[in-house]
Amino acid sequence: MKITTRITELLDIEYPIIEGGMAWVGTPKLAAAISNAGALGTIGSGNMTPDILREKIKEIKHLTNKPFAVNIIMLNPYVEELIKVVIEEKVPVVIFGAGNPAPFIKDLKDKNIKVLAVVSSDNLAIRLERSGVDAIIGEGMECGGHIGDVTTLVLIQKLTEVLSVPVVAAGGIATGRAIAAMFALGAEGVQVGTAFIATKECEAHQNYKERILKAGIRDTVVTGVKLGHPARVIKTPFSKKMLKLETNSPEEAEEMLVGSLKKAFINGDISQGSFMAGQSAGLVKEIKSVDALLKDLMKEAFESVEKLTRKFSIKETSKT
Ligand SMILES: Cc1cc2nc3c(=O)[nH]c(=O)nc-3n(C[C@H](O)[C@H](O)[C@H](O)COP(=O)(O)O)c2cc1C
Repeated sequence: MKITTRITELLDIEYPIIEGGMAWVGTPKLAAAISNAGALGTIGSGNMTPDILREKIKEIKHLTNKPFAVNIIMLNPYVEELIKVVIEEKVPVVIFGAGNPAPFIKDLKDKNIKVLAVVSSDNLAIRLERSGVDAIIGEGMECGGHIGDVTTLVLIQKLTEVLSVPVVAAGGIATGRAIAAMFALGAEGVQVGTAFIATKECEAHQNYKERILKAGIRDTVVTGVKLGHPARVIKTPFSKKMLKLETNSPEEAEEMLVGSLKKAFINGDISQGSFMAGQSAGLVKEIKSVDALLKDLMKEAFESVEKLTRKFSIKETSKT
């Protein structure tokens, strides 16, 4: 099963699937497993310092010869130094998130690094296209982690209408049916986050994986709205406390947030950890290997397209 799109060609990958950059979760081990299986693995640099990022890049280079990406969030205070590291280490792909990376695109492209950017609005997407970005990842509010306010369904329709560069759909994609749906909207690839947490190769604490398996589609909540940085997380005692504190004591809420994803990822701590995950957690039923997950996603995508093609086929009627 092979599909060729501008995204598979741009990134030199077999499957049109990108691992969403995930702070803590996006380790070299998980990213390498995803790249080795034919998609694009991504190191989530989150709040890493330049030295730590360099170590992680060296680690992934030992684990795969396939292309991989580094996700850099514009909120990281070391953005410029991180960019120097990815250039020096000749990282094939950089994916920017959480802000406007326009000033950095040209430098990376001059060094033959492919540049993608995650957006939740069409305006930023248009500006980034003008700045030379290779592809845009439209991320809808169903997704895990920090969110915008438009759904994937509407955002991708808009982006494929207004952009010439290829569009990748993110947010809520955990089945092959969803991949087929996004392609029907004009996307040429998808980005997946939550579903990769529930894989054997993901190094998250077992509690994190179990929370995802147990979650229904309404078991996430958006914390941080009142603090100006909304994030979708699984409902836990921590998220309940956060929602109360945001209103009553924003300073305390901010303090509680510090290191909270790490506490979920490493310790599986449901009272102090922030279990970031998207609504698609409610669609994840079992823990699979990365390879099995990717094969299943692609198989279901092809089957969905076949079924639809049959449903939509217009029967020729004889006129005589
Ligand atoms: C635990 C977690 C951490 C995330 N961290 C980041 C991040 O550091 N940078 C980023 O651009 N996006 C981040 N995201 C968003 C993902 O890259 C991806 O776009 C999103 O998970 C896709 O939606 P889904 O969760 O419905 O699959 C994170 C998502 C999760 C679940």
